[in-house]
Amino acid sequence: MAKRKSIKFGAIIHGVGGNISAWRHPEVPADASVNLGFYKQQAQTAEAGKFDLVFIADGLYINEKSIPHFLNRFEPITILSALAAITSKIGLVGTLSSSYAEPFTVARQFGSLDHISGGRAGWNVVTSPLEGSANNYGKKEHPTHDERYKIAEEFLEVTRGLWDSWEDDAFVRDKEAGVFFDPSKMHRLDHKGEYFSVQGPLNIARSKQGHPVIFQAGSSESGKRLAGKAADAVFTGHENIEEAKAFYKEVKERTVAEGRSADDIVIFPGIGPIIGRTVEEAERKYQELAGLVSIENALNYLGRFFDHHDFSQYPLDGPFPELGDLGSNSFRSGTDKIKQTAKANNLTLRQVALQSATPRGQFIGTPEKIADLIQQWHEEEAADGFIIHSSIPSGLKDFVELVVPILQERGIYRTEYESDTLRGNLGLPIPENRYAKQKVNS
Ligand SMILES: Cc1cc2nc3c(=O)[nH]c(=O)nc-3n(C[C@H](O)[C@H](O)[C@H](O)COP(=O)(O)O)c2cc1C
Repeated sequence: MAKRKSIKFGAIIHGVGGNISAWRHPEVPADASVNLGFYKQQAQTAEAGKFDLVFIADGLYINEKSIPHFLNRFEPITILSALAAITSKIGLVGTLSSSYAEPFTVARQFGSLDHISGGRAGWNVVTSPLEGSANNYGKKEHPTHDERYKIAEEFLEVTRGLWDSWEDDAFVRDKEAGVFFDPSKMHRLDHKGEYFSVQGPLNIARSKQGHPVIFQAGSSESGKRLAGKAADAVFTGHENIEEAKAFYKEVKERTVAEGRSADDIVIFPGIGPIIGRTVEEAERKYQELAGLVSIENALNYLGRFFDHHDFSQYPLDGPFPELGDLGSNSFRSGTDKIKQTAKANNLTLRQVALQSATPRGQFIGTPEKIADLIQQWHEEEAADGFIIHSSIPSGLKDFVELVVPILQERGIYRTEYESDTLRGNLGLPIPENRYAKQKVNS
């Protein structure tokens, strides 16, 4: 099924890090999450490594227990627009929640980013796991998990419809004749659905890549359904190749069942490689990062996945507590996995908290070992590509300087960009304009 011969890569840029204590590492600028220079440098490193994309994650609720990066960070569209100006090939993907936004605004924002970047925009559609988000948007309550995905589905339909408001040759711009546009090529959506009512047309045309690329990052049942139906790409997280293969197969099958091709969706598991020129160096780097995390911090980090549940109330060295349904209305696939792994391996609360806060994945070791694993995951259809997160800035630099050349030498990773759009580089088709298509078919 994996027709893409070349592996795809994305880099998460997240300032002071996804690790709760990485900000304390001597190498991390302590203001990195709000430091434009830092973001520029990371994006340029990823582009030098011919990465398909950089990715800016986001969330809509914080409290005292949130990780430092979440407390004070850039809004994705804003920072991506700045990065568009200093890069030329790399895709620019950002998270925006379909539970707390309006499709007309979102279609405009990503439509604009797509033009500003010359066809390099991507939208990671998330449904917002945290209940507290409702309080920041004047909503009485946070919609349930199922409802959030229903909203997301309609939201995407509307956004895509709005992106087709203008046929590609609608703007005539004939100064002599005084004709700016052809009204027969401007279309109103007139959408009236369960959650949204949107007339249109949108006040921005399609870009060179047709529509921004749609990413989806929820791995629950509803998340996988939405991916198969509507996503161009998926971010996911798996600890081992068997799990990743099962997810890959299922999402590809669901995509085909929706009448699409298996190649119409690109699957990106997230990995956090820790690279050393020797095994010992890699191990030392891991220990250095793990050593920065206190058990209190690890409990807070774990708690966020369960809607900021207070884990300090349980004995640290007792069995992982029985939590019932807790977590299933937030990061469902993640919390389900934590509960299952704890039970299957008889883990204590301390072990679970430390494993979540400082995961010691397989992707740790020499550049050759990392390259071998990447090649294996790709060949065995566990991944079309990988989204790389590194807790410290040199993690990305090491990957680009030490692992990328090995993959290029093996002929499984590009040495030059194939295209200057994100769709082009990911090997995704340009969506036809629905109205132009209707005209051809009628
Ligand atoms: C690589 C990756 C990136 C993600 N980025 C975000 C993000 O920026 N914002 C967010 O709320 N969730 C993010 N998620 C989490 C999912 O989008 C989703 O909210 C969560 O897994 C709950 O959805 P589920 O119940 O369908 O699994 C990310 C997940 C992965 C694997």
